[in-house]
Amino acid sequence: MAKYVNVDEWSIIEENLHLNENKIYESLMSIGNGHMGMRGNFEEDFSGSTLQGTYIAGVYYPDKTRVGWWKNGYPEYFAKVLNSTNFIGISVKLNGEVVDLAKAKINNFKRILNMREGYLLRTFTLTDCEGRETNFEVKRFFSMAEKELAAISYSIEPVNHTAEVEFTPYLDGDVMNEDSNYDEKFWSEVDKFAENGLFHLTQKTKKTEFVVTCASKYALFNDGNKVEVNPEVIVKPQYTANKITFKCEKGSKATLYKYIAVTSNRYFEENQLVSKAVELVEKAYLDGYDKLFRAHSEKWAHIWKESDIVISGDPSAQQGIRFNIFHMNCTYTGDDPRLNIGPKGFTGEKYGGSTYWDTEAYCIPFYLSTSDQSIARNLLIYRYNHLEKAKENARKLGLKGALYPMVTMNGEECHNEWEITFEEIHRNAAISYAIYNYVNYTGDESYLQEYGFDVLVETSRFWVSRCNYNPKKDVYMILGVTGPNEYENNVNNNWYTNTMAAWNIEYTLQVAELLKDKYANRYNELVKKLQITEEEMAQWADVVKKMYKPEDKELGIFLQQDGYMDKEQMLVKDLPKEDLPLNQKWSWDRILRSCFIKQADVLQGLYFLNDRFDLETKKKNFDFYEPRTVHESSLSPCIYSIIAAEIGYEEKAYELYLRTARLDLDNYNNDSDDGLHITSMAGTWMSIVHGFGGLRVVNGTLSLKPFIPKAWEQYSFKIVFRDHLLKVTVKQNETIIEHQEGSDFELKINDKVYALAKGSTINI
Ligand code: BGC
Repeated sequence: MAKYVNVDEWSIIEENLHLNENKIYESLMSIGNGHMGMRGNFEEDFSGSTLQGTYIAGVYYPDKTRVGWWKNGYPEYFAKVLNSTNFIGISVKLNGEVVDLAKAKINNFKRILNMREGYLLRTFTLTDCEGRETNFEVKRFFSMAEKELAAISYSIEPVNHTAEVEFTPYLDGDVMNEDSNYDEKFWSEVDKFAENGLFHLTQKTKKTEFVVTCASKYALFNDGNKVEVNPEVIVKPQYTANKITFKCEKGSKATLYKYIAVTSNRYFEENQLVSKAVELVEKAYLDGYDKLFRAHSEKWAHIWKESDIVISGDPSAQQGIRFNIFHMNCTYTGDDPRLNIGPKGFTGEKYGGSTYWDTEAYCIPFYLSTSDQSIARNLLIYRYNHLEKAKENARKLGLKGALYPMVTMNGEECHNEWEITFEEIHRNAAISYAIYNYVNYTGDESYLQEYGFDVLVETSRFWVSRCNYNPKKDVYMILGVTGPNEYENNVNNNWYTNTMAAWNIEYTLQVAELLKDKYANRYNELVKKLQITEEEMAQWADVVKKMYKPEDKELGIFLQQDGYMDKEQMLVKDLPKEDLPLNQKWSWDRILRSCFIKQADVLQGLYFLNDRFDLETKKKNFDFYEPRTVHESSLSPCIYSIIAAEIGYEEKAYELYLRTARLDLDNYNNDSDDGLHITSMAGTWMSIVHGFGGLRVVNGTLSLKPFIPKAWEQYSFKIVFRDHLLKVTVKQNETIIEHQEGSDFELKINDKVYALAKGSTINI
């Protein structure tokens, strides 16, 4: 396996410039603050291989769909998260020559992502053709304290010469998406302005009409003393800048601080965008870089205090988990229910930055245990707010109830591969499962009354209309689907889909009972509003009872789908190494005919409905499916790791943990250049807390079954559970649970009940 970064517990370090792999490093060096983020692009001009990427949460474009053959029901557009105004740009000239790292002679290059304090640093020495050496140090951060702010400190130090320096801090809105379907540009200019020391640019997206203003101010210092500048003011189409020229003496250090404020009409009135951005950037300028950075790094300190996982004795595993936790926090902070978590977050274009089932299946548990419950609740409300569109989506397909989109920005389906859009319907169950998960974890039944029941009812209606009754066999079947395993399409009776569909309806019936018993008035209102009849509920119960769930009784396993055993059975270990990853080496047709499984499918069901299956069943299914799984979705290894931990396959659990934790750092799937796998990062967290820690909540009781990989001396994590804050430390022969906040309560450890008094500690 190629080694891309140095092992360090708190940092991601690229040593020496890797021009051919720059896109991979750009992904790895991404930073964000939940409202905007960007890849690890360089501030100065760069003619090498790069994917310029600056993203603003919720700002997207409905790019015209591009398919070979139009099929009725296709969504009209494929939403793209937009590459927005490049606001970090600082063109630099030294002695008349443009600084371009793809062309210059560069020594001692380091690009460092500091995860503890949330900044990106680059240091290097540039030597020109006359042997003149200049040291560079460039640092930037996206403020966690003020979501509209970013700041850069750009320093140069001529080592053996006095330099004529030209700095041009700029805003460039003439940007494109690499994945634009028709090479169109998505932004048009609305307003621009530049004067001495301040410039801004306002742009609007075509069609969606998101308006974004970037305003920038800067200050130049020489050896710590402020330098008065007399810049050339530059205004061009979609571009504003100031060009400053000055002399930097040998051995002295010139630093340009560039402050940027970004406002959008998602948060401010359109006619206030400029004044607000200018106000924010003026204030940032007056506060100065150090003060802004302190406020920012204090926020990060708080995040780490609450959600760090500390592993002793295995720096590579430690780096992996911190990288994952860092990016989860860069991507989503949970204060806006209109936002969600794109599979690539702010680190690339692929997957359009849209919302997938990933959020409900993988991310909810992370936020449930590491933050205030309002954050997970906001993620659920996001789907509630899209319920009408999901109903419309089901109607379009000739079905009842609500079918949530597989991929969305605003509730509308915006993906256009038929096998996914029309067939990967299991996403509906994940959305219902997230409601169950949230209520079970937090005990917040008010959610069911206010929002949850509506979603459960409409998703159940969808399932009932989507399955068909087979009178000969007296069962309900779901035909023509794609399960989580996208390496099979249009299959009949995918065990996971059928099982989760039946579970979805069953849970709806249980919630109906609960509401009827405890909140009768509200229940009656809901029954009336949703027009639920006794007959309908009886039909739901019938579907739950008679849902067909394929099994191979001889092997003692659940069947991936009806036709799975007709396929030639092969194992991943018998494939030639050169054939992997299959999705880059085999034709699609060959993949579809093969038995190879992309990601957890049956195992995903065993994980979700964990308490319904015994260890023997989990073991048999694991033994059968893991050797056939290529884990070519980043979402796969974490689920297998959790089940491996549960069934006592410790080495396998550890191996799969490393695969999920270091998926991007080690570029396992050969695709880190596109961006990072943000949603699977939440899965990495799950593989420690749910996998190694064995955390489950059954009927409102928290239970833990910790195990520790041999390679680790100890690990610890914190979890928020209801009003309790717990710290769990697992050593080779001891588990320590510290009850740091909250009232007295009972929990289970290794199936034994313990009473945990407020502030107390248990050693086991
Ligand atoms: C996976 C899906 C997932 C999507 C976005 C695909 O490769 O198969 O399950 O939702 O990526 O992460």
